[in-house]
Order: sequence, then C-alpha cells, then structure tokens
Amino acid sequence: MKAETQLPKALYFVRDETLAEFRDEAKQYRVTLSELSPGIFASVNPERLFWVLDYWPVNRLAFTSVSDAAKQLRRMGRFWAYAGGNHYRRGMLIADNLRCEKERLWNFPVSARGNRWQAFTLSSPNDLLCSAQPLKHRFAGGRLRFVEDREGPPSRAYLKLYEALTLADVSLGSDDQVLDLGATPGGWSYVAACAGAQVQMVDRAAPDSGLLRKFPQIRFHKGDGLNPPVALLEDATVILSDMACEPAKLFESVERWRKLPRLKVMVCTLKFHGKSDKHLIRQFAAIAGSEIYHLWHNGHELTWVWRR
Ligand SMILES: C[S@@+](CC[C@H](N)C(=O)[O-])C[C@H]1O[C@@H](n2cnc3c(N)ncnc32)[C@H](O)[C@@H]1O
Repeated sequence: MKAETQLPKALYFVRDETLAEFRDEAKQYRVTLSELSPGIFASVNPERLFWVLDYWPVNRLAFTSVSDAAKQLRRMGRFWAYAGGNHYRRGMLIADNLRCEKERLWNFPVSARGNRWQAFTLSSPNDLLCSAQPLKHRFAGGRLRFVEDREGPPSRAYLKLYEALTLADVSLGSDDQVLDLGATPGGWSYVAACAGAQVQMVDRAAPDSGLLRKFPQIRFHKGDGLNPPVALLEDATVILSDMACEPAKLFESVERWRKLPRLKVMVCTLKFHGKSDKHLIRQFAAIAGSEIYHLWHNGHELTWVWRR
C-alpha cells in the first residue's frame, strides 16, 4: 500500500520556531509527515522524534455529527482533552459534549501523575484522530503553562524547571542537596530553595544578590560548571544545569556524574548553536533512565531529564 493511503499512526505537535529542526529530524530518520493543521503533523511510519512538544500514537474515528463524535469518544474513554487544530469551532463543540479538560494556567507544583485524559484533534469536519492511550504525565499538545510568579524568581527560566519537574514527575524537597550549574541569575535555584532544598549555585557570573539574602540555604561558588568542586558533586542528590555550554561537553560530564552514589536526578538544558546534532540527542536519550523534552518554555533547546 502507498504511504499516502495508509492511516496515520501518530501525531506530532511542533512549535513554529523549531519547525526546521523537526523537519530535519524527520528527514534524517525517514519519517513521512503530512501537516494536518498548523504545527500538527501526522505520520504513517512514526519514530520518536525529539523536537516536538507532544507525540501520541493515534486511532482514527469517522463521525456524522458533533454528538456522534462525543458519543463514540465517550465509549473509548471517560476523560478527554481537545488539542486544537483546524475545524476549531467543531472541535470545541465536541469538547463541550464531553467531560473535557480545559486548557488553563496551572499553579506549580502540579501533579500530572493522575492525568487520565486522552486527547483528540480533527483531521476533517467528519474525521478525528485521538490518542490511543491516556496521556499520563503529558498535557495535550504539550501546552503546559503556569500561573506566573512575578515577584520571587530573578529570571523567567524558572518556568522551564517548573515544566520539566512536572512532566518528569520529580519533586524536590528538604532532603535534597541541589547543585545548580550555570545558575545565574538564579531562577532555578529559587525553585529549589522554595521547595526547601539546600542549593549550591555554580556560575562564572555573580547571581542576583537579593536571592542570596532571601534564602540562607543558597550558596554561590564562582567557577566552571563543567568542573564543579568535587565535594559539591559528592553531596548532590540533584544536579541542575541550564548552562550555556556545548551539549557534547555536557554529555561527557553527565556520563561521569551519573556514577555519583548520592545522585538521584539530573535536569539539563541542551542548548544548540545552529542546527542541532541529532545523533548526540539520541546519545543523551540512550542513557538509561533518561527522557528528553522540548518544553513549552524551551527556546532553541531541549531538556534532558535523568532519574536513577
Ligand atoms: C541561561 S543562564 C542560566 C539561567 C538560570 N538557570 C536561571 O534560572 O536564572 C546560563 C548561565 O550559564 C552560565 N555559564 C555558561 N557556561 C558556563 C560554565 N562553563 N561554567 C559556569 N557557568 C556557565 C552563564 O554565565 C549564565 O549565567
């Protein structure tokens, strides 16, 4: 059978800004794409691609009316989320006929552990594609946005950490020793300190002075985040890195760090200059216990999370 006549097996949700990376990745891994709606792509031969906000295996469902669509979806599952796309008004009418999770701003921390909803988008006025399984830790279309904290954090980077911790189901607490590399001005350290953790910041540049005054459990060390003091590494239960550094150098470091006996979690931003190295991304993904996200709050970067 020709590829065009086959049913789509999965959907990808992609940010405008990273379409070129996504298309390049799909081409390298020979994934055939058709664009259903702006930023929503279907594939008949999907592979895990990383420059995507969200990805689900799908089933196709033909329907005759809004109420017929809602009835058929209800038979498949109790909880639904509408992921937007073309034929938006009709999609919203179907959503109104279902017990549908509405897109909203979340207060951090969010527990996504109990997410049971499946999601759908319309491929034509009388056809929809729906996720074959509940999305579990994910949010339909990768749209996870938070009520902002405009007072506390010294940078907006804290939103990336909110999102990564939510999707990876990681919570920080007072038992944690957090080593934050490339930490200045201190948005990530702020999140860790608010959770009650002891925080060691390492950066070449000085952090926000108000942050250090406000949180006595935050300490700052001036230096190279790729080679932090051994004593800090040995104590760390969590390593965070939002360092502006070569992902290849970071890869060498995380390969060493994951052998640290106390370490439980690493959250690292992979920042690329120019076109990303897709092979290197897969090397990160191949580390046991890893997941890679293109977060709603990421720019031209991915977020790698490792859990022991
Ligand atoms: C995007 S900022 C980090 C923002 C921070 N996560 C926050 O929440 O405010 C990147 C930081 O990486 C630091 N940096 C880059 N390379 C570094 C290195 N090799 N060692 C230490 N810091 C580094 C820069 O000085 C800069 O402060």
